Amino acid sequence: MAPHARRFVSQGHLVDSGALTRILNLIVEEGADYEVVSFKLGKTNQDESQLEMEVRSGDAALLEGLAARLVALGCYERKPGEAVFRPAPREGVAPEDFYSTTHHRTEVFVQGRWREVRRQRMDGVVVLEHGEPVCRKLRDLRAGQPVLCGSSSVRLTPPARDRDARLFGFMQSEVSSERSVENAVRRIAEELKSIRTGGGRIVAVAGPVVVHTGGAPALASLVKAGYLQGLLAGNALAVHDVECALYGTSLGVDLSSGRPVDQGHRNHMRAINRIAEAGSLAAAVQQGVLGSGIMYEVIRAGVPYALAGSIRDDGPLPETITDMIRAQEAYERILENASLVLMLGSMLHSIAVGNMLPSWVKAVCVDIAPPVITKLADRGSAQTVGVVTDAGLFLRGLAAVLLGSS
Ligand SMILES: NC(=O)c1ccc[n+]([C@@H]2O[C@H](COP(=O)([O-])OP(=O)(O)OC[C@H]3O[C@@H](n4cnc5c(N)ncnc54)[C@H](O)[C@@H]3O)[C@@H](O)[C@H]2O)c1
Repeated sequence: MAPHARRFVSQGHLVDSGALTRILNLIVEEGADYEVVSFKLGKTNQDESQLEMEVRSGDAALLEGLAARLVALGCYERKPGEAVFRPAPREGVAPEDFYSTTHHRTEVFVQGRWREVRRQRMDGVVVLEHGEPVCRKLRDLRAGQPVLCGSSSVRLTPPARDRDARLFGFMQSEVSSERSVENAVRRIAEELKSIRTGGGRIVAVAGPVVVHTGGAPALASLVKAGYLQGLLAGNALAVHDVECALYGTSLGVDLSSGRPVDQGHRNHMRAINRIAEAGSLAAAVQQGVLGSGIMYEVIRAGVPYALAGSIRDDGPLPETITDMIRAQEAYERILENASLVLMLGSMLHSIAVGNMLPSWVKAVCVDIAPPVITKLADRGSAQTVGVVTDAGLFLRGLAAVLLGSS
């Protein structure tokens, strides 16, 4: 008979989300055994199912490892012990058995009750600040700060697949270029409209391909109409947007004719030079040097933005943040309380943002390459929609639906 046993409970849409199958399969695959103590099946869309089970194994270490993996699937100890916090041995260093966070909603059992972790993000640690659990990056740990260790006092809520979801149900975690892009654009437009009406925050992450594909005027018009509350990008988006505003080209290609212009390859460098001369993008707008485009509308509307540097950058523009830690912090500030993030044609920046977002924040990823979408859609979240299409085409379609223009 297996001598070691632990009781777990779990609740949510366990059956139709596939969670129950994953939980039970995991136990069997790991070579442990289980007994379902009770199972209450939710009957309506609102009702959640409730599971209580005993997991058994003759191997204590196996059971310990399995318990941590069950926690990641949304199971938690029926009678959790008080969470264990150990002091960080040094600045930026956690105790060896620190709990590494996921992007799912997380609670920790502290002083006899479950408390929600604030500032949830993946690949962080949980520290106690004024008695409350908070997510922090390893690098931000101070020596002696209490760091959560082990996972036996942790409860995760992986986002339930909402049986009622309209937008985020229609292509949940699916990637298909065959699906109608028009249909996707229409549904996303409805979602953006309702977020704007409800006072929510829409943040865009955009790569230079938005400009190369002729999507800049559409994105600029969405900013002007109040559809953007934050913009995250690299140096290139701003460089090519300014190039387009000043010279009508993107990487030297005339955007109206699609033909390369004579000496056009100089244009993005001329754009950087003009902004450097003005002092900044904001100064260029103020001085009347920059009078159209995405960055112009963003600055004019006072929309917060952050340009994160990369090793590929020319210039960079004065506002491009080349200290990566500062750039990550600037991104995180703009992403706080975001209702939906629109990711447009940047593998680097979209995936970086995907890693910063809690799993309950909606994200729409538009890219021509299915693998980029798959990587983002695979956030273990029903909240990510992927659209495999051209960024310019998507933005023109979106502006047409929302603003009646193209
Ligand atoms: N001159 C410069 O300073 C310069 C130039 C280029 C890039 N960069 C920097 O390099 C970094 C990475 O650049 P990135 O984000 O462009 O590259 P990336 O490779 O990370 O992403 C480009 C994405 O665009 C997608 N894509 C290509 N064509 C598309 C289309 N028609 N419609 C939709 N998606 C399409 C690709 O599949 C890819 O996922 C950024 O920080 C950027 O600012 C700087």
